Amino acid sequence: MDLSPLQSQLITLKAQKNAVILAHYYQRPEIQQIADYVGDSLELSRKASESNAEILVFCGVHFMAETAKILNPSCKVLIPDLEAGCSLADSCPLTEFIRWKRKYPEHVLVSYINCSAEIKALSDYICTSSNALKIINSIPSDKKIIFAPDRNLGEYLIKETGREMVLWEGACVVHEAFSVQKLIELVRSYPLAKILAHPESKSEILKIAHFIGSTTALINYVVESPADTFLIGTEVGILHQIKELSPDKYLIPIPTEEDNTCACSECAFMKVNTIQKVMDCLQSESNEIILDPMIQCLALIPIQKMLQLS
Ligand code: 13P
Ligand code: SF4
Repeated sequence: MDLSPLQSQLITLKAQKNAVILAHYYQRPEIQQIADYVGDSLELSRKASESNAEILVFCGVHFMAETAKILNPSCKVLIPDLEAGCSLADSCPLTEFIRWKRKYPEHVLVSYINCSAEIKALSDYICTSSNALKIINSIPSDKKIIFAPDRNLGEYLIKETGREMVLWEGACVVHEAFSVQKLIELVRSYPLAKILAHPESKSEILKIAHFIGSTTALINYVVESPADTFLIGTEVGILHQIKELSPDKYLIPIPTEEDNTCACSECAFMKVNTIQKVMDCLQSESNEIILDPMIQCLALIPIQKMLQLS
């Protein structure tokens, strides 16, 4: 792999500073190339909690960097761009959320990891897309459940577990945008292709998917599958890892409603991080994640429960 001068300088700098770079699969390929570890939300949380580094540069979105800080409070956690948000996390304004939770005093609150530290602090369990089924199934059947913030993931969990759940009305702007009509047209052109979808996608997409899973699970499915063509229902960033691992597989991103040209479904929040910003934040040790200590302690409880259960 040929590295650019900036990538090479970054590798030297992180060694000098005893820093580790964690990157989500939706990050730009040039960031994934120099990361110490690339993974899904659950794997990155585990890596963050186990790290002995002095500095963690978290190349992902804000809630992921917050989770890293909660799990490894003595570590300095930096994010290349503090504006790297998430539409799901943004869909839960705290005051409104507290009002909603109060309506269900007898219910257990399960929150998808794509939420703020404050929402995590109010939750009984946290889950990610890779362990959500396991977490819901671990809750005694006599307990009622409220689930936030992703309505699509919530509906999928209701269908798979048969549990009744009250859902918060949040959605991911990227996964909501996939066009069912355009997917059906693609299936006509590629009848043997396998359809893969992240559970944040709409139920119409999930219904026709051959496989539903977290980003890591989708990548593993392609790599291990004997099929050669795949219609990919998640952010296009995962294509980088799949091409590294299985260069011969033919990958077609599922087009979005708006998109008539490139068929790219990019998360604008993830893409605000650039290799230059990774360098800048590590050099100046800026964009540090600082949390209220009380929120940090309370949020750790449901995250740890999740890690023990998964
Ligand atoms: P994963 O945990 O599957 O990587 O998902 C994170 C995410 O934000 C998907 O949009
Ligand atoms: Fe949030 Fe969607 Fe981007 Fe994932 S893809 S970080 S859920 S906005």
